[in-house]
Amino acid sequence: MAQAAGEGVVIFVICEPEGLDLYWFGRKTTEELMTEPRKKITLPYLFKKMADGEPITWLTCYDYPTAYLQEQAGIEVILVGDSLGMTMLGYESTLPVTMDDMIRHTQAVRRGAPTAFLVGDMPYMTYQPSVETAIRNAGRFMAEAACDAIKLEGGASMADRIRGIVDAGIPAIGHLGLTPQSASALGGFRVQGKTASMARRIIEDAKILEQAGAFMILLEMVPDRVCQVITERADACIIMSLGSGPHAHGQLLIYHDMFGLYPRFRPKMAKVFGQAGEVILNGLKQYHDEVIARTFPQPENWFGISDEEYAELKKNL
Ligand code: KIV
Repeated sequence: MAQAAGEGVVIFVICEPEGLDLYWFGRKTTEELMTEPRKKITLPYLFKKMADGEPITWLTCYDYPTAYLQEQAGIEVILVGDSLGMTMLGYESTLPVTMDDMIRHTQAVRRGAPTAFLVGDMPYMTYQPSVETAIRNAGRFMAEAACDAIKLEGGASMADRIRGIVDAGIPAIGHLGLTPQSASALGGFRVQGKTASMARRIIEDAKILEQAGAFMILLEMVPDRVCQVITERADACIIMSLGSGPHAHGQLLIYHDMFGLYPRFRPKMAKVFGQAGEVILNGLKQYHDEVIARTFPQPENWFGISDEEYAELKKNL
């Protein structure tokens, strides 16, 4: 964010008897200081955007500092995806992720993004076994992590889970196309719905999930024109795209893919908006070199003691 003329600086000052140490807690532009904090993003807000033909912005997020930045950037919907198993925990897939992993990360994201519409992603085997299991785990996201909705993967076979969760008063999002928890059954991480019969199945699944009560459906790696058909046929359901083209009501990206932060691969659909991984790597190398060369730290990086106190200390050592 530009820090131009008119910048306001918020400094918390901690006074010590022997002088001042300034702890720099945050800078805000005057505009930020003057404007009201963003209002909470709600379901009616999202439906209004859909009705007005305004695209909705959605990103994944797994930690407090990133959530803070996403909130500042105006991102409306945040998904704490079970992709955190790969992006944050280094697993080969999302399957080992537990509810407790999800709750811990989702709580941190909520602290950083108090007004975003926060979605908890139900991990593997926390909803597949039964409707009751699904409702209980969806309830944990709401009660323990202050979520606004949950997301789960799957089509017609998961419609009763969606219905049960919605009947329990919890907004639910469906996820069709490439569903990473079933990557093995789908033959890997590949585009779904490329044949007419597979596309028809996804279109039917979307309608079934909508009728079961899903207020939103994410289409991941579905051909653009199939996504367009689903979007045009949706009545009271917001259709979101991840690699499924521009015709949906909004877009989702995986945060780590946007900034070169996931070392193993970069999916074709991910646009890189900045090479943060490279910036951080260069900074780390510089730190390493400066410590070895003894050019870090410099006086501004450490704390001192007055000559008087030091003399007193030495006397009594
Ligand atoms: O876990 C996740 O981040 C997801 C995305 C792939 C949509 O479900």
